[in-house]
Amino acid sequence: MSILTHFMKESFVIKGLAGEHTLKGDIPVRGAKNDALKIMAASFLFKDTVAITNVPNIDDIGALSNLMEDLGARVVHLEKDRRVEVTVPSEMDTVLDCVMTKKFRASVVLTGPILARHGKVSLPHPGGCVIGARPIDLFLRSFEKMGATYTVDDEYYHVTTADGKLHGADIFLDIASVGVTETVMMAATLAEGTTVIRNAAMEPEIQNLATYLTKCGAKIEGIGTPTLTIHGGPVLESKGVEYRVIPDRIETGSFLVLAALAGDKVRVTNCNPGHVRSILSLLEQAGVQFELGEDVITVHKPVAPYKSVNLKTHEYPGFATDLQAPMTIFLTQAEGESLVFETMFEGRLNYTQDLIRMGADITMFDPHRVMVRGPKLLSGRELEGPDLRASFAYVIAAVIATKQSAIYNTSHIDRGYEKMEERLRAIGVDITRVKE
Ligand code: UD1
Repeated sequence: MSILTHFMKESFVIKGLAGEHTLKGDIPVRGAKNDALKIMAASFLFKDTVAITNVPNIDDIGALSNLMEDLGARVVHLEKDRRVEVTVPSEMDTVLDCVMTKKFRASVVLTGPILARHGKVSLPHPGGCVIGARPIDLFLRSFEKMGATYTVDDEYYHVTTADGKLHGADIFLDIASVGVTETVMMAATLAEGTTVIRNAAMEPEIQNLATYLTKCGAKIEGIGTPTLTIHGGPVLESKGVEYRVIPDRIETGSFLVLAALAGDKVRVTNCNPGHVRSILSLLEQAGVQFELGEDVITVHKPVAPYKSVNLKTHEYPGFATDLQAPMTIFLTQAEGESLVFETMFEGRLNYTQDLIRMGADITMFDPHRVMVRGPKLLSGRELEGPDLRASFAYVIAAVIATKQSAIYNTSHIDRGYEKMEERLRAIGVDITRVKE
């Protein structure tokens, strides 16, 4: 069996609404994947059990649980409150399994806590979505600044410290990387001395993590700003304080786009409107009718055709690169020309070729910029999801298109979105998971 046939065994079959606005009801947002993964990794900094609630039931969480258990942690999943309890013994393996690590990019953040606590860690090059080169140079350079050295062999980077400890350092991140900020911040909580991270990323998930670590004994100043100062100290203790995963902002934004394009009246529930201001601002300028509640956003059907808007991805609080693909689908339905500038990942506009095949009018200028001309009615077809976020964008495209679409490579959606088809069906999407 070829690799392609293997991947194409399961698909989501969606009957398109051909531009009609019929979806109705509530669609709940689950906990943020990119928050849950990081607090699970942070458990390696603790001497007691870390209890986490609102954890989404998705494949990436299962993959991280397996990887952590392989290293010696105990990970218990409970249905009530979507709760996960992680206990890490004082003695554990420090070599990340090659196959498990390559399944998802977030595995790399384990390196910070493990290195800080045990003075060494070995990691293969991490995996995840193929949306660009995604190097790990900033991780390695930061560890070096903190006194570690590393060697590379065929499969692994072996990072070690001379005296079993990382040391505080002044680190400027050339890119405000989410993963590097989180990894260095976690590592610095157990380092000797003070670490300053400049040009730190400010995503809400990082703020939630930093606030929790602080409650458990870490000394972190500047939370939510681009300069984090971390005074190293002893191993952390949760003392029963629970971590609540924040609502997924990428799910929230994606549901807003779906509701705007195909909704009669859709309420996006369990969300934090304050975390999606950048997409709300663009949707408002485009003419989307919505109301904000405390944890609900209600989207109404349009009273006039949507207008084009330009979009440029940026670190938080700017427009999230993970929402670029769903927003581009929106722009195919807006009147006029919209420029989409993907600043972060060079492979992250390749999916637009499939949109063109569906009938979208899109011109690519270079790997980072496309021009979208709308509105164009899309036509359903067979699609193969290229990565997690673009795969969900294909689902939106299929819902608004004419005829039927089949989206293969469902594993991308299952990696990041809990029981997506059930939630979509509840608001009226005709979607079926088909196993061939
Ligand atoms: C996280 C998110 C991902 C999101 C991205 C940007 C998780 C699990 N994933 O990914 O969904 O798209 O933030 O918001 O939280 N870079 C380097 N060298 C490094 C590290 C990163 O050059 O050592 C570059 C990357 O290639 C990219 C840029 O930095 O161009 C930003 O990536 P980064 O913020 O690190 O993304 P992730 O943390 O991997």
